[in-house]
Amino acid sequence: MGKTKRIAVLISGRGSNMVSIVERLCSEKEPVGEVVFVFSNITDAQGLEKAKNFGIETLSFSHKIYSSRKEFDEAVASEIEKRDIDLVCLAGYMRLLSKGFIRKFRNRIMNIHPSLLPSFTGLDAQGQAFDWGVRYTGCTVHFVDEELDHGPIILQRTVEVLQDDTKESLTDRILEMEHQIYPEAVDLYCRDKLKVEGRKVSII
Ligand code: GRF
Repeated sequence: MGKTKRIAVLISGRGSNMVSIVERLCSEKEPVGEVVFVFSNITDAQGLEKAKNFGIETLSFSHKIYSSRKEFDEAVASEIEKRDIDLVCLAGYMRLLSKGFIRKFRNRIMNIHPSLLPSFTGLDAQGQAFDWGVRYTGCTVHFVDEELDHGPIILQRTVEVLQDDTKESLTDRILEMEHQIYPEAVDLYCRDKLKVEGRKVSII
């Protein structure tokens, strides 16, 4: 295993997945990684306060002050590069990434999506699954590529849809699972245990 990995988390809202990653990394006996930077495109995102309470450096500026996605992403990428980041974790980051950003950090950007990909990509994945009437849904951690919710899958966990579920109760149980698999995937990355070949990720 190499040096302790430096991790940036990009958020737009509540930041509960970011917290689950931070807590897991803090609980390791031998540190394998550290969240050193939390960025948000939403200047009053709740998760920013949570990150500050952990003593993590935060930064936020709105995409609205940039004339294009490309320019905004270049500004975010340059903040990430300044901090010598190994891994970028998207955690409820409600922005599509430009191709340039993805190329810069190829196989070093992870995302969590609240469905069993490739089913139910895009917004409101839990609602889509609920309305479809599937018996099982879940969540997926994957590397990010140029297409939405599409890159190589790292970990998935299933959640059963119960007869008396509402969209909200289902969403809550999926979120509990997200909080287990995202930190697990980050931990594997930090220990150099993820090998990506095409679409396939092996755990070594
Ligand atoms: C999660 O459900 C995640 O899967 C989705 O957005 C939500 C973010 O929640 N991408 P939080 O900000 O991590 O609490």
